[in-house]
Amino acid sequence: MKKTYNWGIIGTGRISNLFTEALTTLDSAKVYAVGSRAEGSARNFAEHWAVPRAYSSYADVYNDQEVEIVYIGTPHNFHFQNVKDALNAGKHVICEKPLTINAQQARILVDLARQKGLFLMEAMWNRFQPWYAVVKELIDNGSLGQLHHFKADLSFRFDVGPEHRIFNPNLAGGALLDLGVYPIALAALFLGKPAEIMSSSHMCETGVDDQVTMIFNYASGATADLGCSSRYLSKNNATLHGTKGFIEIHGMIIRPEKISYYQQGENAINIETPYISNGYQYEAQAVMDMLQEGAIEHPAMPLSESLEIMETMDIIRAQMGLVYPDE
Ligand SMILES: NC(=O)c1ccc[n+]([C@@H]2O[C@H](COP(=O)([O-])OP(=O)(O)OC[C@H]3O[C@@H](n4cnc5c(N)ncnc54)[C@H](OP(=O)(O)O)[C@@H]3O)[C@@H](O)[C@H]2O)c1
Repeated sequence: MKKTYNWGIIGTGRISNLFTEALTTLDSAKVYAVGSRAEGSARNFAEHWAVPRAYSSYADVYNDQEVEIVYIGTPHNFHFQNVKDALNAGKHVICEKPLTINAQQARILVDLARQKGLFLMEAMWNRFQPWYAVVKELIDNGSLGQLHHFKADLSFRFDVGPEHRIFNPNLAGGALLDLGVYPIALAALFLGKPAEIMSSSHMCETGVDDQVTMIFNYASGATADLGCSSRYLSKNNATLHGTKGFIEIHGMIIRPEKISYYQQGENAINIETPYISNGYQYEAQAVMDMLQEGAIEHPAMPLSESLEIMETMDIIRAQMGLVYPDE
């Protein structure tokens, strides 16, 4: 029988609302507590989503004996401390991307979760959506042939001031950590760890990156061409190029809704991959499914891969010369 899990939400911003909305669609999830820096925000959030317990501190959520899984929806620079505190209080954790701001922090969290026997996962939500099974099947059944090249971009313009987390160095802002993490994570999913990383970045007035172009080389001879920006616009799609065909992942790579498969000289085969609700419920259900099985990591988003993604982003940040105030 499926167990019901009590969730605690950390932070009452945009993504915490979306994630909570997704949890409300799942039979096995109960949103039990919310924590905010501000009492009023916690109360409003709790009223809106019918959450029984509203706390004016994050620590109260970690220390609530009824809470079993904590979701971290705070800006990047707080992830390390928030995850550490939740794990130390004995909670299972799913944390928004990127897991931390650098690999050193990620390594500490991975060791802590394993040492305590608690579940930890970076919230790479697109891996749990329906499109991935379609692409995986095309790769596994040989339709793509040998994968030689991967292309992906995720770029949006943000109509916000310099204090917003996308531009704010104090919140570990920048296009790379916020947006680039998605193309990099997809490249990791399809091609593994790059052997060589080259990048070219543009920095904005606040001192963080607002455009990053990346080329990765792999030991297999494959290459990846990745981009992210908060100053240009893009199709936000991805393509996988193989010896027998190529695959286009349509729509934004954070929530693709259609896959096209092309062979030389043939018409495209299009496969719709719609998702229900707002798309965040897949990763939430995946966490609970793993806990039900007694696992402390999810094979679709293993901690070793989150660590490699952080190592890759550390190298790119070193190339652009960006060090955050918290480092
Ligand atoms: N998976 C996705 O699709 C997706 C989409 C957007 C963002 N994200 C990720 O989610 C995280 C949060 O992004 P968001 O867009 O939800 O941000 P947001 O709307 O600014 O919310 C962040 C929340 O964190 C808390 N916080 C604590 N200290 C803060 C500080 N000094 N400044 C601002 N907020 C602070 C606040 O909650 P309280 O005041 O209640 O404590 C705030 O509401 C980031 O890691 C981001 O990369 C993921």
